[in-house]
Amino acid sequence: MLPRVGTVDDPLRLAVLISGGGSGLAALLTHQEVAARLHRTVLVVADGDAGGLEHGRGLGIPSKTISLPNVSDKVEQRLAHEALVLAELEAAEIECVVLSGYMRILTPSFVKRWKGRLVNIHPSLLPKYPGAHAHRDALADGAKVSGCTVHLVNEGVDSGYILAAEEVPVLDGDSEEDLQERVKKVEQILYPEVLDQLAAGAFSV
Ligand code: GAR
Repeated sequence: MLPRVGTVDDPLRLAVLISGGGSGLAALLTHQEVAARLHRTVLVVADGDAGGLEHGRGLGIPSKTISLPNVSDKVEQRLAHEALVLAELEAAEIECVVLSGYMRILTPSFVKRWKGRLVNIHPSLLPKYPGAHAHRDALADGAKVSGCTVHLVNEGVDSGYILAAEEVPVLDGDSEEDLQERVKKVEQILYPEVLDQLAAGAFSV
């Protein structure tokens, strides 16, 4: 559960984790800029040289790359990386972690630490097409409808409690990119709205 309900005077402190261009981050930042909200983004973290960091930097929000440390054992490397991320989250007094195109699967220990305060958006109607290739999988399956899902993160892959979902049509002849762009447009509206509700205490899970 969230530690508290956000207020306009003291909005919930969000960190947004990204891996790519950050169109979802940009939409969230605009949402937070245009009106008083119950949440605000105070930290952006990327796991590499993500273009989306510029959206945070442009608004003066600390926006950092935390690369995978140079550790040969993959398990140790993952844990060491998460420890670095966790240190940044704690230093920034983060209350809720928002995954927005963050393409790493988090370890059970990290998930446990943030349980109820760790949110993801996935570009399909879960439980259909979990994982890193949702659009490819939807097209290969001949789906006529796809969409996006906002969910709390649990120890599984895209299997946590669903907060909201919205359908998006799949059109004849769609490429992966066509479908991705159509879904992103819906994500950019849905995710900020769900975060408004979450920060207001609307979900009692
Ligand atoms: C978004 O469509 C998001 O749903 C997806 O990555 C895209 C990020 O776009 N996330 C996943 O696939 C997570 N498994 P963006 O970098 O332009 O915001």
